[in-house]
Amino acid sequence: MKISIIGSGYVGLTTGICLAELGHEIIFMDNNKEKIEVLKKLEIPIYEPGLKELLIKNKDRIKFVFDIKEAVSDVIFLCLPTPPNNNGEADINSIIQVSIELAKIIKDKKTIVVKSTVPVGTCEKIKQIFGNRANVVSNPEFLREGYAVYDFMNPDRIVIGVDNDEAKRIMKNVYEKLKEKIIFMDIKSAEMTKYAANAFLALKISFINEIANLCEKTGANIKNVKVGIGSDNRIGMSFLNAGIGWGGSCFPKDTLALIKIGEKNGVEMKIVKAAIDVNIKQREMFSKKILNYYKDKAKIAILGLAFKPNTDDMRDAPSIDIINFLLSRNFEIKAYDPKALKNAKQIFGEKIYYASDIYDALKDSDGLVLLTEWDEFKNIDWNIARKIMNKKIIFDGRNFLKPPKDFEYYGIGLPKE
Ligand code: UGA
Repeated sequence: MKISIIGSGYVGLTTGICLAELGHEIIFMDNNKEKIEVLKKLEIPIYEPGLKELLIKNKDRIKFVFDIKEAVSDVIFLCLPTPPNNNGEADINSIIQVSIELAKIIKDKKTIVVKSTVPVGTCEKIKQIFGNRANVVSNPEFLREGYAVYDFMNPDRIVIGVDNDEAKRIMKNVYEKLKEKIIFMDIKSAEMTKYAANAFLALKISFINEIANLCEKTGANIKNVKVGIGSDNRIGMSFLNAGIGWGGSCFPKDTLALIKIGEKNGVEMKIVKAAIDVNIKQREMFSKKILNYYKDKAKIAILGLAFKPNTDDMRDAPSIDIINFLLSRNFEIKAYDPKALKNAKQIFGEKIYYASDIYDALKDSDGLVLLTEWDEFKNIDWNIARKIMNKKIIFDGRNFLKPPKDFEYYGIGLPKE
């Protein structure tokens, strides 16, 4: 099939390139000309493992255009950003504007697939713009940054909200090779599923963090408790890693937006509010743990800045709040991240030192603070660390490191050694 992708950001690129891998012909469109020029050279402006290789492999089936008039095909995916407005509500302006533009251009009936995360009822608004000249479909995405290609090719489910058989048939063709994973439902439920899924995962993490804080006070070990509860199939092991909490471009934005959808409909989303609250406090608590230890300013090596491993994404990363807190208490920061340094420079400017590798960060530091659990940090050579650090102290925000016994080690929700 010929498929257009409007919006060549993170979601659009991953979706389109993976759809090309499934055999479709893809036209990417973006209103950022520079981005389109970069993509034409087969360069990917984001870091996502495996995506570039897949783009190169499928390049003969992929086209990049700047003009929306060249981006019309029978199936059009809208992969546009829905950032929070001042209120915390999802701003659907760009989706509406593009729909108005498309509605002026298209001549015969199209299928418009809304991939962006949108408040319940948005597809209905889009339908009004197109009238009977388009099927409007909701197809929320559940890809994780860093594993997006794998997740696309091996989905737990593909949720598709439709309101007629023609749209259903077309979407079956789009996902022909993954069709046994499709769950069809009504459009509003598909829109709601996306928010409910992200909110549930976020609150699962906040829950385990709250239990971890209690473990720390009572002498229990959160790692054991995780296995103890996660082995119950009804609970499951995933998203039960205690730490400094969640960040990124999705959970913070979507939990807030869900609260706003609740407000508009007279339903207070109490559990989601509590999950956000716990998440903010988790960052504060970890920062204060470090401050309380040193009392006064210290020179700290931060390992990991991205909101999670395998991405260069710094959006709402816990590292931002933690570093800003430490800077405000006159700490000196030497930070290293395998991929996120460029983005971190935009945030911290000259305020911190950007280390070229792990040991450059550790050298002369009064302690190591781990904020992102990159695989690379598993292989720290503790013999070198021991020699180059001023003090052998570790604050592990992800319960990830296994240092030798002569290092003083503080994790999250772990008993005192
Ligand atoms: C999340 C969802 O997992 C995807 O299904 C969804 O498609 C995506 O949002 C989206 O809406 O676009 P993502 O933001 O890439 O994906 O990241 P996750 O892997 O879900 O991690 C989110 C945050 O939770 C990270 O900061 C991570 O460090 C934290 N986390 C995760 C924990 O603190 N503990 C855990 O056990 C798991």
